[in-house]
Parts: sequence; structure tokens; C-alpha cells
Amino acid sequence: MGIGEALSREFAERGHNLLLVARSGDKLMALAQELREERGVAVEICVEDLSDAESPARVYQFCRMRHITVDYLVNCAGLSHAGDFYEMPQGKLQEIMMVNMMAMAWLTRLFLSDMVERNKGVIINVASLGGLQGVPGLSLYSATKSFVITLSEALCVELKGKGIKVFAVCPGFVDTGFFGRTGHNDANIRLPISGIDVVVKAVIKGLAKNRILIFPTLLDTVLAFSQRAVSRKTAIRLAGFFAAVKDDSMK
Ligand SMILES: NC(=O)c1ccc[n+]([C@@H]2O[C@H](COP(=O)([O-])OP(=O)(O)OC[C@H]3O[C@@H](n4cnc5c(N)ncnc54)[C@H](OP(=O)(O)O)[C@@H]3O)[C@@H](O)[C@H]2O)c1
Repeated sequence: MGIGEALSREFAERGHNLLLVARSGDKLMALAQELREERGVAVEICVEDLSDAESPARVYQFCRMRHITVDYLVNCAGLSHAGDFYEMPQGKLQEIMMVNMMAMAWLTRLFLSDMVERNKGVIINVASLGGLQGVPGLSLYSATKSFVITLSEALCVELKGKGIKVFAVCPGFVDTGFFGRTGHNDANIRLPISGIDVVVKAVIKGLAKNRILIFPTLLDTVLAFSQRAVSRKTAIRLAGFFAAVKDDSMK
């Protein structure tokens, strides 16, 4: 769904063969069928729950068994949970950390070793503007996205000279229904909500310009850089105000 589906369409349009991973086999099958028929690319699907610690290894094994070489790894699957951290159920905490961080890091590690061997590869990690600082009301989510940004930045430099590029995409709010699914009333959000196409275009442009951090809109860029002009505490309070998970977010 969402950004991952839109990126799949864009990469198919550009002639890339795809391997799609998610839990919903029916949606994957429908998308794969459409892309094969309309774009003429080869599309495989791998139904996996990335909150399962063994799933990244199974995805990697799936590729090895079918002799699939992954040139572009897009870590996009992610989830959030809005509200007070002290009330978050343990299962939700675990699921968020497993999908947003563990699966992303382990998939990167597994496919990266082959990329290093081939001296070629691109890793696109979908982070968030919320990962630039803590976001009150989305505390665990923002922390997981900080992890994604930090790991991507470090790898980008660590892999210099090895023919591999690493990117972290940092969108603000995007119209996918994502936050609605987390218990976050997106009608309260105090920032414009961008279309998915804006994110896709920014990813393509960011790849061409070789930027580590990709900010899809001008406002995302302004918010990211204006952080440097205010104290850390103000940046965090403003992030909470914009996200507006709670009405008292500026108190
Ligand atoms: N939308 C926004 O406002 C926004 C802003 C900044 C960053 N982001 C980031 O962008 C990424 C994509 O978000 P989105 O808005 O496109 O979300 P979305 O519409 O909810 O799509 C999430 C995708 O992740 C997959 N997924 C979720 N849990 C999974 C699991 N346990 N195992 C395998 N796949 C799983 C879902 O497929 P199944 O349910 O079928 O598994 C779905 O395809 C996320 O990392 C999110 O944090 C989103």
C-alpha cells in the first residue's frame, strides 16, 4: 500500500523487475499482476510479516533460491502508534521496533554484502521528517525513524568507494491513511499533507542528485533546516505541535 506501492509503480514504469514484500498476499498478487501486464516487467511476490525476526532471512533466501539479484533495496514497510508512550501495549512496541528498525537493518545487512561484492547497489530507506527529533505523541515512531536516518547516514559514508548509494527519505505527512491507522486523528495535523506522487518524484530526483537525506517538499526542507535556528527543546515542542496528537502539545 501507500508509498511502497507508488514506488513500485514508478520503478516498474522505469523498466525495473520487482520483488514485492508485505503481509497482504491478495494485494501483492493484484499489484504484481497489474504491473506485469501493464508495464511488461517481471514481478515476484514474497508474503512475509516483517515483525517476525526470521522474516528478513527468509526474504533473502527467497531471492537466492530464485537467483534474484537485488540492485535496489527499498525499505518502506513501517507503522506507528499515536498516544502516550506509557500506555503503549508491549506487543505494539515490539511490532513497531521490529518492522521499522530490525527488519530494515537486517534486510540492509543481508543484501548489502552481495552489493559490496558486486560493487553496485542502491538502498532507499523510508524514514520520516519526524526522525529528525523526538515527536511528543509519536515518541517511539520518531525514535525508530531517527534510527533509520542515523544508520543510513553512517552507511552512506562507510560505503564510500564501494559503488553503493544509501538514501533516507524524510517525508512530512503524506496522504496514505497511514496516521489514521495509528489512532492519530489526521484532521488535527497542523501541516499540509502531501500527495504520494510528491514523495515518488522527490525520491527519483534525490537519487539523481545523490542526496543522503531526501526531503520531498520545500516545507519539509525548511522545517528540517530551521531546526538549527532554535533550541532542541523548541524543535521537539514544535514537532509535537505540528503533529497534534494531543491538544495540549505546546504546553
Ligand atoms: N504516510 C505518512 O504520512 C508518512 C510520513 C513519513 C514517513 N512515512 C513512512 O513511509 C513508509 C510507508 O508509509 P505509508 O504511508 O505508505 O504506510 P501504509 O500505507 O500504511 O503502508 C505500509 C506498508 O507497509 C507494509 N507493512 C506494514 N507492516 C508490515 C509487516 N509487519 N510486514 C510486512 N509489511 C508490512 C504494509 O503492507 P501489509 O499491511 O500488507 O503488510 C503496507 O504495504 C513507512 O515507513 C512510514 O513510516 C509515512
